[in-house]
Amino acid sequence: MNTNDEFGADELPGTDDSFWLETTDSTDFEPLQDDHRVDVAVVGGGIAGLSAAMELKNAGRTVTVLESDRIVSGVTARTTAKLTSQHGLVYHSLVSQFGRDRARRYAEANEAAIETVADRAGDFDCDFQRRPAYTYVSDENDRGKIRQEVNAARSVGLPASFTEDIPIPSDAVAAVRFDDQAQFHPRKYLLGLADEISGDGCDIFEQTKATDLDSGSPCKVTTERGTVTADAVVVATHFPFSDPAGYFARQFPKRSYVLATRIADPQPEGMYYRSGEPYFSVRPHEIDGESFVLVGGQNHKTGQGGSTADRYRAVEREARNHFDVEEVVYRWSTQDYRTTDSVPFVGTLAPWMDDVYVATGFGGWGMTNGIAAGRILADEIAGSGSEWSNVFDPGRLPSLSDAKPLVRENATIGKRFVEDWARKPQGTREPLSKEEARVTREDGNAIAEYRDEDGELHRVSAVCTHLKCVVAWNDAEKTWDCPCHGSRFDFDGVVLDGPAVRDLPKK
Ligand code: FES
Repeated sequence: MNTNDEFGADELPGTDDSFWLETTDSTDFEPLQDDHRVDVAVVGGGIAGLSAAMELKNAGRTVTVLESDRIVSGVTARTTAKLTSQHGLVYHSLVSQFGRDRARRYAEANEAAIETVADRAGDFDCDFQRRPAYTYVSDENDRGKIRQEVNAARSVGLPASFTEDIPIPSDAVAAVRFDDQAQFHPRKYLLGLADEISGDGCDIFEQTKATDLDSGSPCKVTTERGTVTADAVVVATHFPFSDPAGYFARQFPKRSYVLATRIADPQPEGMYYRSGEPYFSVRPHEIDGESFVLVGGQNHKTGQGGSTADRYRAVEREARNHFDVEEVVYRWSTQDYRTTDSVPFVGTLAPWMDDVYVATGFGGWGMTNGIAAGRILADEIAGSGSEWSNVFDPGRLPSLSDAKPLVRENATIGKRFVEDWARKPQGTREPLSKEEARVTREDGNAIAEYRDEDGELHRVSAVCTHLKCVVAWNDAEKTWDCPCHGSRFDFDGVVLDGPAVRDLPKK
């Protein structure tokens, strides 16, 4: 059912495109032409895949990167690009769940990622700038959470301090401040890396979709254009394109929204993040002499939570509460997978697949976690092991406190499945107007219908091809989103995001 009843999506603020994509050239690496043999195949050309490929090449391995679309055009291009080990109020939780030693390793891995970019920033321009990072609360009753976080972060060696002197946003009452954090332009950085990766027996193939994975010895990655045979495979496709170990039930998708604005006020000096639901995020960026402020937030479970167009409007309202916004220039949205203990899964994809590795579940903090994942996986593949591996091990058992949210999330998904199928048809047989969408029933089948701006009707099955939940309309992106595990499809049913791998059949 269309809930975009206030304005058309055309009236949303800004141009619908990522600031990072708009301010860099597109890439044109050739697709794979035939079968290929290499030491390591990396599937996915985002920050984790390219970071792993760079580390592996530096370690003397030949590497092939396979990207289904264009490199650095997916989630990595839809970030706010904060390079920080400050991931909300995570350290109190990590110390409580895992103990100080493992929490310290998580902190070290992410701090090292900042320094990796700092080192490379001398080789090529990637708009790298040191900034302090603040996670703040706006409720007086939450001051204690900030003090707890400062103590936990300091106990694991991080440069954390308590402050009430927070330059912006105006509703902040207390914050944890980390010094020596940074921001950068992720596409400039990763396109620079891609140039270094390509050559000397290493390749990047774009528009080459991996369709199957054989974990034998050697491994084989089947693509639509040929097979890549490799001693090891890294799966870095945001959600793993091959999911033999049930990652869909161990991490949960959320969408969030970003606006690139121009403001009349002085630029903020740091990077800001309001903890809680929904979060709110602010950070400045200067490029070619122009100043922007990126604001983001309004996170919600994919396929749930009403109009996504309204989410953009809510971010804009909040931005205008804090700043004198002259113009919203760009808008974009993204999807993150969160694990229940807030630590990504980085390591072997499944216990019975020794030479297949995964990096997923970055929980919205993929810039440093993605770079850290690249280093961990390169060290594991090189056989030297990584001192950070056991923190990120995908095979870790959930702690008692972690198991509860895991059970709760999966129970919610099961409830949603039953409710969606039991629901009476909401759509009527009335013709849809332009830009309207609905899910209706015909002979017991759920049908997703959308009439586009030219009046053409698009009809596909509303049954997600992953595990048969009923998809919901995303009015801002004009996509069908699955409320169960976050698969997304365009209005003609083509898969945009997994875990689904098959399109919605046309009706
Ligand atoms: Fe799992 Fe749709 S993503 S049922």
